[in-house]
Amino acid sequence: MKFENTLTFARELDLHDALKAYRQQFHFPQVNGKDVIYFTGNSLGLQPKRTQKYVDDIMKDWRELAVEGHFHAEKPWWDYHERLAKPLAKVVGAKPQEVSVMNTLTVNLHFLMVSFYRPTQKRFKIICEEKAFPSDQYMLQSQVRFHGLDPSDAIVEVKKREGEHFWRTEDVLKTIDEVKDELALVLIGGVNYYNGQVFAMETITKAGKKAGAMVGWDLAHAVGNVELKLHDWDVDFAAWCSYKYMNSGPGNASGIFVNEKHLGKVDMPRFEGWWGNKKETRFQMKPMFEPIDTADAWQVSNPPVLSLAPYLASLELFDEVGMPALIQKQKKLTAYLEYILLEVGKEAGSVFEIITPEDRGCQLSVFLHGEGRALFDYLMKRGVIVDWREPNVIRLAPAPFYCSYEDIFRFGRILKEGILSK
Ligand SMILES: Cc1ncc(COP(=O)(O)O)c(C=O)c1O
Repeated sequence: MKFENTLTFARELDLHDALKAYRQQFHFPQVNGKDVIYFTGNSLGLQPKRTQKYVDDIMKDWRELAVEGHFHAEKPWWDYHERLAKPLAKVVGAKPQEVSVMNTLTVNLHFLMVSFYRPTQKRFKIICEEKAFPSDQYMLQSQVRFHGLDPSDAIVEVKKREGEHFWRTEDVLKTIDEVKDELALVLIGGVNYYNGQVFAMETITKAGKKAGAMVGWDLAHAVGNVELKLHDWDVDFAAWCSYKYMNSGPGNASGIFVNEKHLGKVDMPRFEGWWGNKKETRFQMKPMFEPIDTADAWQVSNPPVLSLAPYLASLELFDEVGMPALIQKQKKLTAYLEYILLEVGKEAGSVFEIITPEDRGCQLSVFLHGEGRALFDYLMKRGVIVDWREPNVIRLAPAPFYCSYEDIFRFGRILKEGILSK
């Protein structure tokens, strides 16, 4: 499609947007008395209006039923998490029994490493991307040290090439091939938090499996953003947070995926707790753990229903719309954003460079040459909410649920004014 840098054109695109009604279903913060242009769904998604009711329902049940709420609330608390499995499985391309919701992301990665990083004298290496999200780096290093190994021997980082801003799939595959006899695990962020790159998850998983390793993905920036087929790709495990594109609220619960082939195993190394025990025998309080034959076996504690309520509200929206429709709009919105950025670059002088490669989801990362921070501050003051990553990158992620083409057009105008006023 040939784009135009005009308000009329942007409004025309909005008019024909099949998801346009969903914008009204979210709360927008205001700056200078106007709804903001919100491009930080990759950091914290907006609050769906329906979320309040889901939380209020729990508060009401707690107020009126107290402990009886566990079994007699309208949505009983003891198995509340099970309501999330079906819609969440659709979002990540899994079977419902392969997903569960619990804890937070880094915590879940640690729990899953207990099961899926089992280094031996021969196979002990982990492949990850260089400059992975810091929490993942700390998690990997501490797991390696926990096994008495040295992170500098065990962790192999795939590097970007000199002068390039993205990872090449062939370099990931080459690294797998180089260390294949010693490789225990491949664990990469499916969508990179910094440059917005979508890794070739299917291809990399296949190569890792062929080398005889386990393959896991941190899907913080992928879930609710790009197409995932975790089951079909034969991924061993994955985890994600829910507060970015999934709009479930700050610091909220994390989802996990465990491939069906690893389920129902009593001898699986795992840190266990009572909520991972079979439901039929859980309250018999037996001394021996009997794992549920779903990913819930990794669930250690009883479900934090006040966190799960907003996640359930959000999943209902995802279920209504479906990932294919969201991805379709996302591709067009991001393409329009790229077009507008290039137009502004032409009109105002190219003071920035888009570093996100073609394999991308919502996010475009823009490297600012020169005095970047001042431009970021200008955008924020003008009600364009974007985020800043050192040393000089602004990340822009127009989430398809609530961002419009008009937002992008208006952003372009404000950006141009910001550049020209410097
Ligand atoms: C890629 C990635 N991994 C891990 C984390 C850490 O998440 P949490 O604080 O929920 O453990 C984040 C948070 O933004 C992230 O973006």
